[in-house]
Amino acid sequence: MHKKNTELGFSTRAIHHGYHPEEHQGALVPPIYLSSTFTFPTAEYGARCFAGEEPGYVYTRIGNPSLSLLEARMADLENGEAGVAFASGMGAVAATFWTFLRPGDEIIVARTLYGCTFALLHHGLAEFGVRVRHIDLADLDQLRAAIGPTTRMVYCETPANPSMQLVDIAGAAAIVRGYPNALLAVDNTYCTPYLQRPLDLGADLVVHSATKYLSGHGDITAGVVVTRQDLAQRLRLQGLKDLTGAVLSPQDAFLLLRGIKTLALRMDRHCSNALAVAQYLERHPLVQWVAYPGLPSFVQYELATRQMKQPGGMIAFELKGGLATGTRFMNALGLFSRAVSLGDTESLAQHPASMTHSGYTPEERAAHGIAEGLVRLSIGLEDCADLLADLAQALDACAAPAISSPPLEAALS
Ligand SMILES: Cc1ncc(COP(=O)(O)O)c(C=O)c1O
Repeated sequence: MHKKNTELGFSTRAIHHGYHPEEHQGALVPPIYLSSTFTFPTAEYGARCFAGEEPGYVYTRIGNPSLSLLEARMADLENGEAGVAFASGMGAVAATFWTFLRPGDEIIVARTLYGCTFALLHHGLAEFGVRVRHIDLADLDQLRAAIGPTTRMVYCETPANPSMQLVDIAGAAAIVRGYPNALLAVDNTYCTPYLQRPLDLGADLVVHSATKYLSGHGDITAGVVVTRQDLAQRLRLQGLKDLTGAVLSPQDAFLLLRGIKTLALRMDRHCSNALAVAQYLERHPLVQWVAYPGLPSFVQYELATRQMKQPGGMIAFELKGGLATGTRFMNALGLFSRAVSLGDTESLAQHPASMTHSGYTPEERAAHGIAEGLVRLSIGLEDCADLLADLAQALDACAAPAISSPPLEAALS
């Protein structure tokens, strides 16, 4: 490529960064290096590799050419120095926590977090002596009041799963910068670097479940962290190599690189479909509220327009009528699949009260902030008219006869 990388557009970087066909027999598409171990021409060369004095590969759990290309590409797209790939998003989250937190340290986190991240903090880190403190991170005054000399990490998702609450990354970073021992880590799964770049806004680490939009096709689990070179080296040699061993397979690195090539195209379509769906739901008489960063009614709309390039493909809304209506709605869906996960080509619907949190009592769900009629939609890449028609018929199926869905034409204009 002739231009400097910073002058190139997002998709050009997503397709080309770090790969030169002439170095691989002219192969247009990167080869997959399946080898779990690597040979050394001499014992002395091997010794230098082990000492980190030579850049050569040793063993795939520490590094592999297929993973290196993915890591370099993700670092480039996030405007970071280095990336580390993991076998899942939870591998990336766990390695981040275990590498940088020690007994006696404090981690400040938002009230709403992806459930397994919440469980890892409370069933893992807290039991090993890390203090886990939840605050409302949408209110930066709470962060100013909570942060202190033992705070080692501030961690958030923005938008958060499933509440859609945003955190002002630049505002949080300005506060965390006043505490040299503290790191700001942002889970950027919902946005991807195409919609939001936390490092540009002052975060220290970006964490991804690459299982979602980055891969985009629902056929792998993967995770990535992008950060400064020194932190990435610690993550690789402690978090990845020793503490989790959560190494991504080279085949899955190949699939992830393939998915990333079309990320911008896919995100544009996820976002335009989601906006139309959110606007439609907001007008529906059976819907209590809709949380979507692209709606002017969204409480953090101003922050969303400042921080995110587009509002994303995820929507949370509450159906009137609680658990029974929510369950009827879910069972009436035809095109939307009833499934957890997000960011796939297929549109997915999740109703926590009848699915992931059905084992909780209503009181326990309320304590976790999960309304009985809360539905989370991951809007896919299907034709928008078909998605709206499916939602309309499912809403009609669970509404009282006096309530009917608004016409679809307006939603499609
Ligand atoms: C925001 C967020 N972070 C992390 C994860 C964990 O990722 P994975 O399922 O790839 O382990 C998820 C999974 O849904 C998620 O939604």
